[in-house]
Amino acid sequence: MIVVTGATGNIGRPLTEALVAAGEQVTTVSRHAAVAPEGGRHAVADLADPAGLEPTLAGAKALFLLLSGELHATGADPADIIGRAAASGVRRVVLLSTLGVATRPFGATRIAMRALEDVVRESGSDWTILRPGGFASNALWWAESVRSRQVVAAPFGDTGVPIIDPADIGEVAAACLLDDRHLGEVYELTGPAVITPREQAAALAGVLGSPVGFRELTRAEAKAGMVRSMPAELADDTLDILSSPTLAEVRVSPDVERVLGRAPRSFAEWAARNVAAFR
Ligand SMILES: NC(=O)c1ccc[n+]([C@@H]2O[C@H](COP(=O)([O-])OP(=O)(O)OC[C@H]3O[C@@H](n4cnc5c(N)ncnc54)[C@H](OP(=O)(O)O)[C@@H]3O)[C@@H](O)[C@H]2O)c1
Repeated sequence: MIVVTGATGNIGRPLTEALVAAGEQVTTVSRHAAVAPEGGRHAVADLADPAGLEPTLAGAKALFLLLSGELHATGADPADIIGRAAASGVRRVVLLSTLGVATRPFGATRIAMRALEDVVRESGSDWTILRPGGFASNALWWAESVRSRQVVAAPFGDTGVPIIDPADIGEVAAACLLDDRHLGEVYELTGPAVITPREQAAALAGVLGSPVGFRELTRAEAKAGMVRSMPAELADDTLDILSSPTLAEVRVSPDVERVLGRAPRSFAEWAARNVAAFR
């Protein structure tokens, strides 16, 4: 049995689908009730309470660990989850980290994630670490304004990074959970090309078949929206990257293709699959 945390999110859903399609028994985890995967079960648990995860980890062979929201805040203790997983006999851990760990190791949230990577490496379990850059699904932040006013409001409109489709992250994670060739690897995951927010607005217009405008937000306006769903320090770290990405942050990584044997999906492909959210 494989435990998938973050199971109802952008990565967790396609990851669970890929594992079930491969014939694996999956236990999905999130704080809210959800439909169980075929042949498996859904466990309601909060990762902020690692002890409460123990019944879910019992008997699992592998764990996909994805932290959300306040678990990134200073003072959270997600390392305890790794310790309890190893003590429960979990033999393989795939950790969802972030590219910023490599490109900007000094932000508060990235120092914490780097430390968690080290805990995973030293846990005694087999491991793979995934370091994705920005997600295509961040465009869902714009869904309401596109629906109601046909406009994307975002900061740094002409500064881009090679954002990745979270479905590709899910498929890479499934491969890492199932295939020994990925043990001990650290994969940097990006999309196929740099794309700016203004170009994303144009791609959304393309899939909608109607015009979508662009309004540039100030950094402060953008942060005010982001802190509704993430700690302020993570919002600051993210805005630092979006405002002035380094060379390493605009580089297109070969790792999705190395793992999946195909190129990563484009933002337009993500937008086409998710067009209903913007109508
Ligand atoms: N967005 C980016 O550009 C970017 C870039 C690099 C890395 N990342 C990382 O990617 C991750 C987000 O992935 P995603 O987009 O797939 O997530 P998502 O769509 O926001 O979904 C989050 C999932 O985690 C569950 N969850 C949230 N808090 C939980 C808790 N305390 N205990 C148990 N389950 C919890 C949610 O379900 P419930 O609400 O029911 O609990 C949901 O299933 C974060 O770790 C983020 O740092 C993001």
